Amino acid sequence: MAEDPRDWEVETRAVRGGMARTEYGEISEALFLTQSFAYDSAHAADARFAGDAPGFIYQRFGNPTTQIFEDRLALMEGAEMCRATASGMAAVQVALSGLLRAGDHLVAGRALFGSCRWIVSEWLPRFGVETTYVDATDLEAWQAAVRPNTRAFLVESPANPLLEVTAIGAVAEIAHAAGAKLVVDNVFATPVFQQPLALGCDIVVYSATKHIDGQGRVLGGAILGAAELMTEAYKDILRHTGPALSPFNSWVLLKGLETLDLRVRRQTENAGRVADLIADHRKVRRTIFCGRPDHPQAALIAKQMSGGGNVIAFDLGSREAAWKFLDGLQIVDISNNLGDAKSMATHPSTTTHRSMPEAERLQIGLTEGWVRMSVGLEGPGDLSRDVARALDGA
Ligand SMILES: Cc1ncc(COP(=O)(O)O)c(C=O)c1O
Repeated sequence: MAEDPRDWEVETRAVRGGMARTEYGEISEALFLTQSFAYDSAHAADARFAGDAPGFIYQRFGNPTTQIFEDRLALMEGAEMCRATASGMAAVQVALSGLLRAGDHLVAGRALFGSCRWIVSEWLPRFGVETTYVDATDLEAWQAAVRPNTRAFLVESPANPLLEVTAIGAVAEIAHAAGAKLVVDNVFATPVFQQPLALGCDIVVYSATKHIDGQGRVLGGAILGAAELMTEAYKDILRHTGPALSPFNSWVLLKGLETLDLRVRRQTENAGRVADLIADHRKVRRTIFCGRPDHPQAALIAKQMSGGGNVIAFDLGSREAAWKFLDGLQIVDISNNLGDAKSMATHPSTTTHRSMPEAERLQIGLTEGWVRMSVGLEGPGDLSRDVARALDGA
């Protein structure tokens, strides 16, 4: 009997999932750098446009290389369907627009990446969608925010940058009882450590720019969920508004998926070591890392995540000390990206979360002393030495 890829271990799905070979039998996935496709006859074109015959039409609607990426990520996530987008922000934007109409209401966790926050606070209101922000760790707050016109919930878990974790299953139940869909941004956990669909959410979004590429090359994004909902909510938006992922980027991201599991596990090991060093340092007021038992939601993390991820947040007490730490690094880069093979650290309140009003930053506890660090694949000895030296000088 033929193997069912859905029964494969995740490592096998990451390497072989979605594979569709041409007649040449290539080992590495073919890169179809083509915008459009030719039909054997006018009748064949008609049938394809009518949806009566399978096949590709135009790169904005789909591409064979992109489809391998979509099928592979869907298999890894345990989703019926994945649609790739040009960036993580395109994924968040489409994920919300497909679920909401003028007059609808969104409930969102208040700790959100700056650009996600802009979409929710500035963009959606232009189209008549109102939002209530909640403390995402407080289930009663989610419940209290529900209105008769609530159609969607949005949360990052763990959230950027202070790694707050949300009880995805419980929030999904509140959303469903209200007739709303739950969208989870799973960037920080990665498909390696958390499967939000299995926990009960409806839609998962990724910035594939982060760990899925993981080598600093391309932007990309993905939206995943059940086929019926994905088709109903997103098919037409994706086709007509044009946030398609380029086939070249799809190919790069496919190669990224092959090593995602290995990279993320090693990065997480390195991060555990660096987090312990940071937490023990006299200049550090507080350290948050999902892999440490002193994370305020360690019990919830143990229930819904199978690993802590590679991001650490720590408070050095002032902007001056945080900047001195960053300027003292010799190996780790100062950069706002995350998930990369190269370790990088940033000062969220002046970079990634700069557009968030100060009062809202303070509400989530993001004072100017916080540094966010994404731990990479360098040797753990070199990383520890670099971080310890920069902390000494902070
Ligand atoms: C949690 C989260 N979601 C979405 C994004 C946006 O992704 P992209 O930069 O690929 O548009 C980012 C980072 O940029 C992020 O950290």
